[in-house]
Amino acid sequence: MMHDNEENWAGSLAHHGGGVLNVQRFAEIDSTNAEALRQLKSLAEGEHCAPSALIAESQTAGRGRRGRAWLSKPGAGLYLSLVRTFSLKPDALQGLSLVVGLAVQSALTLLGASKIKLKWPNDIIHEGRKLGGILLELRQVGDLSHVVMGIGINLNLGEKELLSLDRPTVDLSRIIGSEIDKEGLCVGLLNQLSEDIDRFIVHGFESFIVRWNEADYYLGKRVTVLQGQECLRGVSCGVDASGALMLKNEAAKDQTGSKGEDTMLRFEGGELSPSLRPEGE
Ligand code: BTN
Repeated sequence: MMHDNEENWAGSLAHHGGGVLNVQRFAEIDSTNAEALRQLKSLAEGEHCAPSALIAESQTAGRGRRGRAWLSKPGAGLYLSLVRTFSLKPDALQGLSLVVGLAVQSALTLLGASKIKLKWPNDIIHEGRKLGGILLELRQVGDLSHVVMGIGINLNLGEKELLSLDRPTVDLSRIIGSEIDKEGLCVGLLNQLSEDIDRFIVHGFESFIVRWNEADYYLGKRVTVLQGQECLRGVSCGVDASGALMLKNEAAKDQTGSKGEDTMLRFEGGELSPSLRPEGE
């Protein structure tokens, strides 16, 4: 492990949770999320973790959502996990992964990337292509929630890698059109996360609804939500105060041609909806 703390970034890194952020760098690791969870095991009950950022050059077993792998070759992406302890129960943490997505969007926009949008619950999108993803993992000990916020952003993917992925994908260098200042991106992202997480702790997700709905790539569009074996169609109406997705399910016409009542469906939690694709795209 290269453990140089925040020496290179002295003075530019915001505090997290009122303390100095412990920055750990790795040339190669299985997964920054897995390493963060291993480190959390040594905490005693009632003990808060030191706010930490784990950053790897490459991952040999990068984890994506729903058990997928996350391509993590050296130089190809940013692989970062931020670890914080919250005195909040998991219920109150719903919406945190959406807040992390917003922080990523803001940091990328500040770096000069335009048209960055979010796909519920937390994919980072550019013009319909996946630019990055977020994987939150939780270790609950008594009243404390230790949360690992894993962030992967594609920076420089080769043509071959882009084509090998199972969905339309893009990287940041193609969006910005130049080399990426990875250190600058890390500092900007960690600072934005500090600000947004502080706001989330004080005001909850409610204070992010407007910002999230503005960032939503699918707002007002017809989408399909797959939940288990069920496939539900409707118009995406954005998120509610807890970060759940609201979907207007249009009633079908009966034989007489009259239409019943439209219903509003609510999807909770980050893992409920594996696929959300607009029809006809
Ligand atoms: C997704 O499937 O969209 C989420 C991908 C999250 C990848 C990041 S890379 C840093 C952190 N470590 C991991 O193993 N995964 C997350």
